[in-house]
Amino acid sequence: MSFGNQIEWFEELPSTLDIAAAKGREGAPEGLVIIAERQTAGRGRLGRSWSSPKGGVWLSLLLRPDLPPASLGLLSICFGVAAAATISRMTQLPVKLKWPNDLMVNEKKLGGLLIESSITSGKVDFAALGLGINVNIRSSDLPEELRRIATSLLIETGEHWSCRQFIKLFLEQAEASYNQLLAGQKQDILQAWSELDASIGRQVTGMSEGKSISGEACGIDEHGALRVKTPSGMRIISQGEVEWR
Ligand code: BTN
Repeated sequence: MSFGNQIEWFEELPSTLDIAAAKGREGAPEGLVIIAERQTAGRGRLGRSWSSPKGGVWLSLLLRPDLPPASLGLLSICFGVAAAATISRMTQLPVKLKWPNDLMVNEKKLGGLLIESSITSGKVDFAALGLGINVNIRSSDLPEELRRIATSLLIETGEHWSCRQFIKLFLEQAEASYNQLLAGQKQDILQAWSELDASIGRQVTGMSEGKSISGEACGIDEHGALRVKTPSGMRIISQGEVEWR
């Protein structure tokens, strides 16, 4: 298996995740990559839309991990670390990770990841990783409401970057992290995350089992869930997102 041995490149798609999932259902092999130069119905986490004009990396990767569904959180952590490593290797920007999987530079969101999975009889049949990175996006390309909170490699560095080069480096890095995870070396991935963790020590609010949890973010646990210190003890947030206060 090799990530990106098979790449399908489109000028425009509604969402690369839809195609990756359709290919997953048809039995396509692990490592298949779907790329679109722009998306007309890009999806973010929690059903949000994802602005995807030309100039970004909008990519999905098909995975067939031999992992229990409970480990999908770690899978997302492993690719977040790979994306952050790619950005810092290529640009030297001080990239950080905001749980669950936002790529942050100078407190603004540069990109994000999400994983959509298909589980049959308690086993992961396939998972589709969606990665979106604002590469050569100008502030004026972004919707008005995102300009204060989002950024791009171009905005941060004043330079244009090769999306192809980014994709090549990311796929190498992602495959190495994925193999580490499958080989049981999750400590290395958790350690790499903790070195880039932008949330540690911050006051955060999120939801756990239908209840709102507020407290100090204390890093992630061995399943990739966020640990939050509250007045009534340590709590775990394993789904959704958190707001920084
Ligand atoms: C987030 O909410 O931070 C996750 C954003 C993920 C966006 C990517 S772009 C490629 C893939 N296709 C989509 O429709 N979404 C993901």
